[in-house]
Amino acid sequence: MIKKEETARLFFALWPSEAVQREFARWAQALDCGGRPTRLESIHLTLFFLGEVPVRRIEALKALAGALTIPSFDLKFLEIGEFRRKHIIWAAPLEVPAPLHALASSLESALRVNGFVLDERPFTAHVTLVRNTRRAVGSHFLSPIEWRVRELALVRSRLGSEGSQYELIGRWNFADSDYEHRDRG
Ligand code: 2AM
Repeated sequence: MIKKEETARLFFALWPSEAVQREFARWAQALDCGGRPTRLESIHLTLFFLGEVPVRRIEALKALAGALTIPSFDLKFLEIGEFRRKHIIWAAPLEVPAPLHALASSLESALRVNGFVLDERPFTAHVTLVRNTRRAVGSHFLSPIEWRVRELALVRSRLGSEGSQYELIGRWNFADSDYEHRDRG
């Protein structure tokens, strides 16, 4: 009998600090929409969902991510939106800054060059806050969330009855950018 190759369900994501995760969780709590809020420690912004990948290819993913040069950048969130038919509430950044565009496109090229198959849908930056919502909430402006993005993560997702469990199997820090100096000075 041919042995089936071991795979892992993987995605690349921007992973916020716990303080920023708390701010997103507060937003989710403020909405009277029922449903299942994303667990605090699971709050993230997906860059590329890879699906089931042979475990032997994880080293190639780590190598290509490690080869990227990425400056830190800021994302600002002000408003939530909803996919009503999918019963999902999300937060999207006010704008996608140039370093995030650059990161998404260089990571995408590196993945394609290395033979990884990606969703053809364009990248839409969002943080999923609540799933299986019971009530529509409409547009909401909430106290702004400022996220200094400093880290790229390769994440393994394990599906379970209580929702997915995520394990960060690779983490790469971004270089400090000019923002640091401007803030101080
Ligand atoms: P979502 O939050 O909008 O559901 C892990 O599942 C992460 O990958 C989630 O952030 C999820 O986005 C994202 N993702 C993107 N495409 C996916 C797909 N086809 N199946 C599952 N998750 C996907």
